Amino acid sequence: HKFTDFLRELPKCEHHVHLEGTLEPSFLFKLAQRNHITLPSSFPKTIEECKQRYDQFADLQDFLDFYYIGMSVLVSEQDFYELAMMYFEKAHHDGCLHSEVFFDPQSHLQRGVEMDTVVSGFDRACHDATAKFGTSNKLIMCLLRHLPASSGLDTIKLADNLYQKGVIHGLGLDSSEKPFPPELFTECYSYLKNKHPQVGLTAHAGEEGDYTYVENALDLLHTTRIDHGIHSRQSEKVMHRLSRNQTMLTVCPLSNVKLQVVNEVGQLPIKVFLEKGVPFSINSDDPAYFGGYILDNYVAVQKSFALTAAQWKQIVLNGINGSWCSHERKQELT
Ligand code: HPA
Ligand code: ZN
Repeated sequence: HKFTDFLRELPKCEHHVHLEGTLEPSFLFKLAQRNHITLPSSFPKTIEECKQRYDQFADLQDFLDFYYIGMSVLVSEQDFYELAMMYFEKAHHDGCLHSEVFFDPQSHLQRGVEMDTVVSGFDRACHDATAKFGTSNKLIMCLLRHLPASSGLDTIKLADNLYQKGVIHGLGLDSSEKPFPPELFTECYSYLKNKHPQVGLTAHAGEEGDYTYVENALDLLHTTRIDHGIHSRQSEKVMHRLSRNQTMLTVCPLSNVKLQVVNEVGQLPIKVFLEKGVPFSINSDDPAYFGGYILDNYVAVQKSFALTAAQWKQIVLNGINGSWCSHERKQELT
């Protein structure tokens, strides 16, 4: 308990959380009813059944199949607003001061929900959370890598005015990693980087894919950080590069266990990253599906690695430095 309080009070930043992955089963069933949506018969029928099924994902794809069905209950601007507000409230309660949150517009566009509906709800929640909790928040749009790059480019063009106005702050790449490597999206990233050079670029890489996915995300997509990236450990060269350039990895411990990327948190290269000076943050990924928010992930790391207070201070400092917020905000957070 004492260490949980210490971890809660640390100035934490979250850089890897999918808002659609914060959809708790209770809210999911409430929205299904509110929006008259019939879930497929393969989907769990009760909160209890969700808990049981979510506890036995075979791999990333097995999770994604539920994740995309789950988010199909999100329809109105208010739905997206409430979803994000619930996350911001929970993050605030966990002692998270700054959140950079992902969303997957293509999965909503495909169902006939407009970009403006999604982003307006999320953006309204970002502002209300700042007013209510004093937290800072940024939106990062992700492209679904299982869809063609042409769809990704269309989506970037659809969001052009939102990037222009600074409503969306970054670009990410998620979904099924191994069959859809970073190089497929070179044009999407270069298009956005040319048009809006201030935008932050990141990509999921090295979660199920090997270290070459990390190299290709850095070399070809020109990302300035890497989501997951735990398989960077396979290459001395990549480790040295991340350390030299202070490229942050957004590590998600409970996610890696639930998707069977590792058997237990203790297998993650947390100590190796610390020793080699590879900066990383600790994040929840899809907390409603993986059974824990940011503080639970911090606690899980502490249980496995028994880090010192000095090591924890280094971790949160790296998280602040790796954030896409203003220099002034970073100083406030430090
Ligand atoms: N990996 C890839 N795609 C995702 C994830 C993830 O961890 N979470 C939500 N979409
Ligand atoms: Zn993720």
